[in-house]
Amino acid sequence: MEEQRKIFLVTSCKGGVGKSTVAVNLAMAMAICGRRVLIADCDTTNRTVDLLLGYEDAGMFDLRDVSEGRVAPSDAVLRDPRTENLFYCSLPHTGTQPSVEKIATALTLCADTVSAEYLIIDTSGGIDFPRALYEYMAYGAIIVSTHTTASLRAAERTGSELARAGVRDIRLIINCFDIKTAMYDEGRAILDIIDSTHVPLLGVVLYDEELRIAQEKGMPAACVEKSASPEAFYNIARRIFGESVPLFDGMEIKHRRRLVSPADGEDAEYT
Ligand SMILES: Nc1ncnc2c1ncn2[C@@H]1O[C@H](COP(=O)(O)OP(=O)(O)O)[C@@H](O)[C@H]1O
Ligand SMILES: [Mg+2]
Repeated sequence: MEEQRKIFLVTSCKGGVGKSTVAVNLAMAMAICGRRVLIADCDTTNRTVDLLLGYEDAGMFDLRDVSEGRVAPSDAVLRDPRTENLFYCSLPHTGTQPSVEKIATALTLCADTVSAEYLIIDTSGGIDFPRALYEYMAYGAIIVSTHTTASLRAAERTGSELARAGVRDIRLIINCFDIKTAMYDEGRAILDIIDSTHVPLLGVVLYDEELRIAQEKGMPAACVEKSASPEAFYNIARRIFGESVPLFDGMEIKHRRRLVSPADGEDAEYT
């Protein structure tokens, strides 16, 4: 199973760009598409995946318990009540964290126990953990960035550090993309963003107030009727499965033209 399993670490050097949001919603979209997915919260400073998935009160064991042999891996994995294909595990909320080698072993045991085809790892940001983990577990990295200058700089740095550490499959998700900002303020269009990060694009998620509100209640976008975001996550999931999916397939987009920059000297025409 390990050989066929695809592992994605969701990262960025910057906090608050939507790493956990992307990890949770992508994992749910993949699970709804019928793939067995384990999402692992490896954010050592701010565990949030349980909140975003609405598991807050679910008492359970964690990856440290597995790594220290206190419980079987199956005891540290929770199955999502909404889909039979999504599973969750996490590092401990408090106390000393296991070594990165032990985390990698515990993650593999947990993924094996539920026969996960995909392992999505949410992280706290920063480069040390991703770099160390790669020595024990080959993964593809998903870098999340918004279109602010600080976030883009962090994405560029994260990408180059991960490439230097040997990570080969590095892809970018632009999150909270707000077309109005791109149009009227000095916001950047999508091609500029890709250009400035040097990371190939996996998908774009628009800013979605419904998504943010639903998250506060532990509801991923795919489980919320009014949310505009599920399609973005389904599109990203399908690209990961190897399908060729247009960037905004099924998504309602106004002002499409400003998604790419006007050529020099050309007026931006907003349609
Ligand atoms: N596409 C989006 N639309 C609206 N709000 C979002 C979106 N993505 C993330 N957010 C909000 O931004 C905040 C930070 O997101 P989070 O996933 O916790 O970031 P990180 O894990 O990078 O620290 C949260 O309040 C979340 O609800
Ligand atoms: Mg987070």
